[in-house]
Amino acid sequence: MNEMTAVTDTASEAKPAKATPTLPDAQTVTAVKHWTDRLFSFRVSRPASLRFRSGEFVMIGLMGDPDPKTGKQKPLLRAYSIASPSWDEELEFYSIKVQDGPLTSKLQHIKKGDQIILRPKPVGTLVHDALLPGKRIWFFATGTGFAPFASLLREPQTYEDYDEVIITHTCRTAGELTYGRELIESLKDDELLNEVIGEGFWKKIKYYPTTTREESAKMGRITDLINSGEAYKDLGVEPLNPESDRAMICGNLAFNLELKDMLEAAGLEEGANSKPAQYVVEKAFLD
Ligand code: A2P
Repeated sequence: MNEMTAVTDTASEAKPAKATPTLPDAQTVTAVKHWTDRLFSFRVSRPASLRFRSGEFVMIGLMGDPDPKTGKQKPLLRAYSIASPSWDEELEFYSIKVQDGPLTSKLQHIKKGDQIILRPKPVGTLVHDALLPGKRIWFFATGTGFAPFASLLREPQTYEDYDEVIITHTCRTAGELTYGRELIESLKDDELLNEVIGEGFWKKIKYYPTTTREESAKMGRITDLINSGEAYKDLGVEPLNPESDRAMICGNLAFNLELKDMLEAAGLEEGANSKPAQYVVEKAFLD
């Protein structure tokens, strides 16, 4: 998942290295959009054989710098949630830019027509299969942890399985909410969802964006806003209940752990592909 990049993509003396068409598992970049000086998204071609479930992640990257002694280059890969839904012809990713990070210092410069490495082995815990049936699903995200939910929000099963879909997104600044906000706004005109689920399906969505370091309509960490009951009041919903609520968590490590404790305290149990239950948490950076 993408936050993992922020956690692991720490300082190194990275020099720009051009991707070449000889990359293993190469895919072609079809579009790049920069959202802020810290965030960008991009789309790449999808390998014909790649099947995945919305919410899963794959390893992507570029060739690293040549070894000073041998001149050999090794792939530099990180786990990235696929931000596009499973039915999309292309694959979309949403990434942080770490200026001295080994991968994202280079990845942030990719342009349409460039190549990246994509290992076609999707895995992940943020999948519908890992949850028992319920009435309401909560997607809890911080920062680029929005990515798997960008996939799941465009996935028909999300609306087939639940009466209500609550997406919370906490970022430092208002600009960091834009990717998510625009995506959610675009759902109203999503042809597939309108056709498969029915017009007005988007009324099932409750969007709750918050910021922590810049003024916005709602300020504060979602964890605090839930603990104080303010989020429930704002959303006009009942508190978390293990009978009806299901949840997925994806954000920075401290956030994931804190929210996991809160869900457990509310009586929800962690699920897995092999044993579906009431909530799941992104495992990419715990491995
Ligand atoms: P804060 O600004 O108070 O640290 P980052 O960009 O560092 O990954 O953080 C993304 C967002 O997640 C920020 O708004 C940050 O708030 C928030 N955040 C960080 N840790 C936690 C946590 N343990 N619980 C809730 N929100 C968190």
